[in-house]
Amino acid sequence: MTVITCTDDLRRLARRRIPRAIFDYVDGGSYDELTLTANRRDLDAIRLRQRVMVDVSGRNMACTIAGSSAAMPVVIAPTGLAGLVHARGEVLAAQAADAAGVPFCLSTVSICSIEEVAAAAVRPFWFQLYLMKDRDFVASLIARAAAAQCAALVVTVDLPVTGQRHRDLKNGLSVPPRLTLGNLLDMATKPAWGLRLLAGRRFTFGNLDGHIPPQPRGTSMAHWIMGQFQPAIGWDDIAWIKSLWPGKLVIKGVTDPDDARAAIDAGADAIVVSNHGGRQLDSGPSSIAALPGVVAAVKGRADILFDGGVRSGQDVLKALALGASATMVGRAFLYGLGADGRRGVDAVLRVIRQELDISMALTGTRDVAEAGARTLFTD
Ligand code: FNR
Repeated sequence: MTVITCTDDLRRLARRRIPRAIFDYVDGGSYDELTLTANRRDLDAIRLRQRVMVDVSGRNMACTIAGSSAAMPVVIAPTGLAGLVHARGEVLAAQAADAAGVPFCLSTVSICSIEEVAAAAVRPFWFQLYLMKDRDFVASLIARAAAAQCAALVVTVDLPVTGQRHRDLKNGLSVPPRLTLGNLLDMATKPAWGLRLLAGRRFTFGNLDGHIPPQPRGTSMAHWIMGQFQPAIGWDDIAWIKSLWPGKLVIKGVTDPDDARAAIDAGADAIVVSNHGGRQLDSGPSSIAALPGVVAAVKGRADILFDGGVRSGQDVLKALALGASATMVGRAFLYGLGADGRRGVDAVLRVIRQELDISMALTGTRDVAEAGARTLFTD
């Protein structure tokens, strides 16, 4: 029995329990993975300021994130194919988010559909939208998210094309999965993962069923995305989306102050400072290095969420101290899912909550809203 003390424990377990191609898809980044590495390295380099003799007996982590109430400043990030990491992965993660009182964001390219998650979740979840070439289909996705009473629409703007992920190409990650001898042998060593998936009989993108034209065998995931996603995008598209979506609009994937200002001018209620977890532009800044510039540019006109490398409550507190109002967690929740399904995601959210709570106490922070420059140690 492994004692889970941190999210890295779940990463190690996931590595043992899910096929290599799926683990690499979760764990990896684009090209030389410089930005992926920088996301963690730059968070690690930030130091918190210890304060003592402050009455920290009544700490508050509850907050509102882009209009949704939350028990702590954390959102489960949209991640494609979570339902391959564990059967019914998106449904299980949404249920874990419900139990922890935090928003869950469903990806356009999820395995479980908007309707499946809506049927299983209690709290309104968020839906993440990619702009695809077929406008009518994008409009139908927005209408489905509205019908499911999603609380926010998150438009991801940092994927007009895909950054190459060497590991996915080498592993033959394709839609549907390419069954090479190597993949088959590897899957044979993870029978529990495979049997659950076979029982659930869900291997395709749930939201896109009936929309994906038949692909030649072995079409790579990256190649498929390039064919479907719209590279001809601009801020005017946000006006079009707003004409169809009455609720909160979040723009995800901004690291540049000029882009942040443009996103606010286009009508975003919130933005997510994100480099897609180091999976798109390689050699760009780490997400945490980009955060202060965006905070300064936005000047309080919208909520700022942050993601990229968050693995602990200490990381959440660092992002709050630098001006974010909440963080998304991507890989951390997928490690939990791969390690132990619903229980694994519960564990991730529990660990992060406890770490945030203790770190708040040790920095003399009584309320998440108090986190700021005073929370950071500077020489
Ligand atoms: C992602 N991300 C992502 N983002 C998005 O808007 N739509 C998506 O479908 C996906 N898919 C996806 C798959 C996987 C496996 C990962 C790891 C990430 C990016 C995600 O929302 C988030 O920005 C990053 O995961 C944050 O970095 P960390 O927390 O993973 O370090």
